Amino acid sequence: MTIDLAALPEDFLWGTATSAYQIEGAVAEDGRSPSIWDTFSHTPGKIDNGDDGDLACDHYHRWREDIGIMRQLGTNAYRLSIAWPRVMPGGDGPVNAKGLDFYDGLIDALLEAGITPSVTLYHWDLPQVLQDRGGWPVRDTAHHFASYAAVVADRLGDRVKHWTTLNEPLCSAWIGHLEGLMAPGWTDLTAAVRTSYHLLLGHGLATQAIRAAVPGAQVGIVNNLSYIEAATDRPEDVAAARRLDGHTNRWWLDPVHGRGFPADMQEVYGVELPEQQGDLETIAAPLDWLGLNYYFPSTVADDPTGQAPRVRTVRRLGVPRTAMDWEVDAAGIENLLLRLTNDYGARKIYVTENGSAYPDIVRPDGTVDDPERTEYLEQHLAACASAARQGVPLAGYFAWSLLDNFEWAYGYDKRFGLVHVDYKTQRRTIKGSGHRYADIIRAHGRKRRNAA
Ligand code: IFM
Repeated sequence: MTIDLAALPEDFLWGTATSAYQIEGAVAEDGRSPSIWDTFSHTPGKIDNGDDGDLACDHYHRWREDIGIMRQLGTNAYRLSIAWPRVMPGGDGPVNAKGLDFYDGLIDALLEAGITPSVTLYHWDLPQVLQDRGGWPVRDTAHHFASYAAVVADRLGDRVKHWTTLNEPLCSAWIGHLEGLMAPGWTDLTAAVRTSYHLLLGHGLATQAIRAAVPGAQVGIVNNLSYIEAATDRPEDVAAARRLDGHTNRWWLDPVHGRGFPADMQEVYGVELPEQQGDLETIAAPLDWLGLNYYFPSTVADDPTGQAPRVRTVRRLGVPRTAMDWEVDAAGIENLLLRLTNDYGARKIYVTENGSAYPDIVRPDGTVDDPERTEYLEQHLAACASAARQGVPLAGYFAWSLLDNFEWAYGYDKRFGLVHVDYKTQRRTIKGSGHRYADIIRAHGRKRRNAA
């Protein structure tokens, strides 16, 4: 498949992404305290096969090898997250020097390898001690988050310029507090709405803290957005699609763009926001870039008796699906990139996650052939390049994920990596898709040099 690589800027970031709990392991080492994900994953029945993140990819001990793999792939950027309970095991202090030292060493080694680190402060692993004090439904948690952000920014900010406050706050709020399928596993609409509010408040406060600590910081927020269509032209289904758009996209984008929380969705939830004077301005702190995580589109119909936002997903026939049962449709990523540019005036966008799970097999010769993931990667990169050709200010692409890892409630069964991990031996093997990614990155470099 042809990818219009010439449409991508010269200094394009070609990266891979991971998150702390999904790869690090070492959950009880060097002073780390439990997070809500340790609690959730050790609660019987919550995770497929009873898996947990205790060892994961053992990245805490194997990070040098993992940076070596990034070099083999030829990536020039790496998106990682910091484990709050490693850095501040008590949630709101004191600082755990050993926790910070780990990330300090990792950042130095990345830079030495010519790989730009992009640091996410919150990828869902709230210290359990803060959960015990009420968690995200409580306003103080937003302030504790900002204090933790200040500590990390202060220590790493001389070398790290790319900062993400939150990864996919939708998952923390809606899946964690409304659907109950992620930590902390609640099913409480009021708590979910309050969580969404305090997450965004924490984002605004952390943005201020990062800017105060890091000259030249480039701060953004990462949302998992969905391209949504109504299953039919029936007004009820069209309204349902609009509600899901509010729930998934506008609720997260509008407030950070100074538009406040969408009034139609406030009506759908019927929950009073815990707003205090000045909050909306804090939440709308100017951003340097927007992060888009895209996996699949959604086609929906009205579900009048369902829980908010009262929609049900409709399966489109004949559309390929990944092992997650997610539809493969690259038109969605192009559409969303155009929407962020045209409707929200984004000046810089990174695709901060995009990828697919398939059941990979290591062949007797030790290789892993994954043609479906390779095709997914090519199709989505082609759609990104097409968006860039139409004027989208796309500055980078981070494949999810560098490694197969702990896929939350699905445990280790779902493999998203460009690199296969044998969890028994911790052996890493670059898959066919990883080799293809390396080829594409090289080809972009050649185009750049030829143009010079
Ligand atoms: O593994 C997750 C990641 O933690 C957040 N974005 C989606 C990925 C795939 O489900």
